[in-house]
Parts: sequence; C-alpha cells; structure tokens
Amino acid sequence: MARFYITTPIFYVNDAPHVGHAYCTVNADAMARWHRLNGDETKFLTGTDEHGQKVAEAAEKNGLEPLAWADQTSKRFRDAWDALDISYDDFIRTTEPRHYETVQKFLTKVYENGYIYKDVYRGLYCVSCEDYYTEESADAGKCPIHAKPLTEMEEENWFFKLSAFEDKLREYYDAHPDFVTPHTKRNEAYSFIKGGLKDISITRTSIKWGIPVPWDDQHVFYVWYDALINYLTAIGYGREDDEVEKWWPHSHHLIGKEIIRFHCVWWPAMCMAAGLEPVSHVQVHGWLLVGGQKLSKTMAAEGSVRLADIAPVQLTTEFGVDPIRYYLLRETSLGNDGDFSHEGITARYNTDLANNLGNLVARVAAVVTSKCEGVAPSPYVNSTLRESAAEAVRTAAEGWNRFSPQAGLEATWGLIGETNAYLENHAPWKMEPGEEVEIVLGDALEAIRIVAVLIAPAMPSVAQEIWNRIGLSGQVTDELFAERTKWGQFRGGHRIEKGQPLFPRMAD
Ligand code: MSP
Repeated sequence: MARFYITTPIFYVNDAPHVGHAYCTVNADAMARWHRLNGDETKFLTGTDEHGQKVAEAAEKNGLEPLAWADQTSKRFRDAWDALDISYDDFIRTTEPRHYETVQKFLTKVYENGYIYKDVYRGLYCVSCEDYYTEESADAGKCPIHAKPLTEMEEENWFFKLSAFEDKLREYYDAHPDFVTPHTKRNEAYSFIKGGLKDISITRTSIKWGIPVPWDDQHVFYVWYDALINYLTAIGYGREDDEVEKWWPHSHHLIGKEIIRFHCVWWPAMCMAAGLEPVSHVQVHGWLLVGGQKLSKTMAAEGSVRLADIAPVQLTTEFGVDPIRYYLLRETSLGNDGDFSHEGITARYNTDLANNLGNLVARVAAVVTSKCEGVAPSPYVNSTLRESAAEAVRTAAEGWNRFSPQAGLEATWGLIGETNAYLENHAPWKMEPGEEVEIVLGDALEAIRIVAVLIAPAMPSVAQEIWNRIGLSGQVTDELFAERTKWGQFRGGHRIEKGQPLFPRMAD
C-alpha cells in the first residue's frame, strides 16, 4: 500500500490565524483527503510553533506567561481548522513533552556526530522573522521582509556546521530532481547552496523561552531549530512509538516560499547530520496577497488591512465552508502568488458554484420531477458523456497526484461544463416523457455522481450533499476513487427531490 505523510508548517502563536495560514492548511487537507480517497495510508500533521522571542513578546504584551498565551492562541488555530473542516490526524504543539524529548534526542545525535560547536555570534536580528541578517542581506539596516529596523546582537552560541553539507546537499539535489517543486523554487534553493553555506547559530542565551540544550543548561535552542524537528516528533523519532521508517520515506512538507531556506537547505542538512535521509519532497506555495501585499500581522497593525475581515472563521460564516475551501484551492496554482479578495470569492462562487455546479444539480432534479414523475432513470451505457467523464477522472487524478488541486478541480469543472452542454443540446425539458428523456437524464445523473466523487477532497460536505440529493446511500468516500469513478453505477429507480438551491446566488 502506498503511503503519504503530509505536513503544514507549524504556525507561530504570536497572533490569531488569518487566511494566508488557511490557504496552506486547506491545500494540505485537500491533498490528504485525495490520498485517503485514493487508498493510500495517509497521515496529515499540522500544529503550532510556540517558542521564540516573537511569542514571548506577544505573551508579555498581553500580560500572560508564554505558555498560557500559547494555550489560548494554539486553540484559536484548532478552532479555525475545525471551522474549515480540516481533517488533520495529529496537531502538534512544540511545548508538548513529546517534542522536547525528540528535539533533545535528535540534536544530541547531531552534537555527538560532531556537527555542533561553540562560538561567538554577531549579527542583525529580526524578531518577526526570528532570523539573522548580514549587512549585505539586510535592506539598509532593515528587514527585507518586514521593513522593520534590525537589532544588533552578539551572543555566545552553539553553531551547526552547515558548511560541511554544501557538497552533500548539492549531490542530493542532483540525484533527486523533484526534491523541491515547483522547479523554479528548487532552483532558488539550489542557488542558496551554490552561493556557499555558512555555519549557523542554533542556540540562545538571551531568551529563556525555548527547549533547553541538554549538554549546556545556559542555552535554549533557537526556535527554528526546535520547530523543524516537529515533523519527526509526530512520527515518534527517538521514542517508544517510533514510526520514522514507516513514514519518513513518504514525507511531503507543504511550505510558503519565504521559508524555503529553512526547509530546503538547513533541514535536509540537519537530517544528514543526524544520520537520517532528508524529507522526501518539499512543495512550495506562493503568498496570498491583498492589494498586492502579503498578509501579515504587521500590515494589520499598520491598519492597511483589517485582519478581522479575513479571519478564516468569519469567511466561513460569510460564504460557507466549502465555497471558501474551493476558492483557496481553485484560484491560484500552488507555487504562484495569488490575489485574495471578497470580490474574487463572490465571482468564483456565483460562476463556478451557483451557475455551473448548483444549476446542473437543480435542473436535472427539476426535469426528473416534471418528466419522470420524480423517479430517477439509470444511465445509458454508451453515452457520449461517458468518455468526457473518463477523461475528467484521468486528468483530475493526474492533477491531484502532482500536487495540483487547481488542476484537479479544473478537470472536474470541465466535466460539469460538458454535462451542462449535453443537457442544453438535448433539451430534455422540451421532450415528451419517455425513453429518450430518461437516457439524457440518466447520463446526467451518472455524470453528477462522478462529479460528487471528484470534488470530495476539496468540498467534502457539498460532495456528500449531492450524493444524498441524487438518492445514493452511504458516504461518497466509502469506496476508493478508482472504483467509485467507474461509469454506469447509478442505478436509478428511486425518488429524487428538488430541494433548496445548493448555492444561492450572492449579490455581486
Ligand atoms: N513557524 C514558522 C514555520 C515553522 S515550520 C517548521 C512560520 N510560521 S508562520 O505562522 O509565520 O507562517 C506559517 C506559514 O503560513 C508559512 O508557510 C507562510 O508562508 C504561510 N503564510 C503566512 N502568510 C501567508 C500568506 N499571506 N499567503 C500564503 N501563505 C502565507 O513561518
């Protein structure tokens, strides 16, 4: 049996979740649902990143101890993911004992293997990034991402010998051309490596909110170093419930483009230093932009965007859960940046959901009522729609398999369009009741049944609703994709109710 272990980055708990975080998590969720439907043994991990200066400062500002603050904010992420119907198998918090145990075991191994040493670090620090910059990489003394002044820091730190992995990383990239996708992002990571790798400081003495270094109690691990290891904590690295061998060769990290260096350079090197193969694949996504800018807490603070307007939970109340999921999956190809706007959601909703999908289901139910006394006919096996459905199933599966929910959905909407066109061409509403009308409707119902299966990873509730509306029992996902998408399974003979519109049109 194939396996699929998918992870999102773990989210900082300095503030509430926003739609940029939801973008990443919904994509990971749809991928996990696709693989489950496809019969793969699947594990889907998400969680919260709770150490570091940024979180400690947020806690202080709110008058709470860091852990009490993290408890509150981590819950807000879980609530948002519940609202968005995210089917994670595990939610990790970096303040959990299991994570302390794995981090300490993993890094002790790297230390024992001779890749960690002590030195003095001087650099320009950005708290928002939790990262150092050099004079050259800074933007006139400011952070190139957050445009905030950088702080000069000097500390005695433990260092990781990243420089020892330059050749090994290059060889790894050469031998695994699809290690990072899309390839434009792979090239970006590769050029970091080719540009030369300096050793990196991995501990702090200036802050206390972190995981203690087991061999030096004056230091805690730098937040990124603890955070990356979460992917191994969740599969039991170094603990009794160790399932690393089972899952690690099938691991996929979905990450945003600004954290490529951590995941595609540091992390594989750390794994090598611990004597482990790197993660098997990193899929990079772009940013969701509002008016051309990345969503961030800083922007909200400056008042240029009200994050409350784009909080995931609020969006689900305004537009519905599955419409938001659909928009996030369909609008932008993973890897590119995409624009986020309420107008954009409304347009997708009215066109793709209300006009195309909703209308298809409604008009078929209406003609079954008016021409077949409400009883569904069964499909005519040699329909022209049969080939369209087979083609959509092939193309959609191919899209999902290459981490492109957008392509999977495009193929699905192709079939919806062809089924609508098929109805237009045959105009069963103009026919006399009888065999001819039954053939047309039976075909359309079978195509709708297949559409319900195809949309299940993206819109789980709508898929089930359509399944029920056309009179089918059980769960749409009770059988695997290959079985469920074979033409000719709709039996007919049962009643179909017209019901309320699936997607009532929204005001533009
Ligand atoms: N805690 C680190 C990740 C550690 S993983 C070992 C972190 N957290 S974050 O909360 O700042 O960001 C988490 C993810 O959200 C990143 O992949 C980031 O790209 C994504 N997004 C944050 N804003 C975004 C958009 N506006 N659009 C799309 N994704 C964005 O980095």
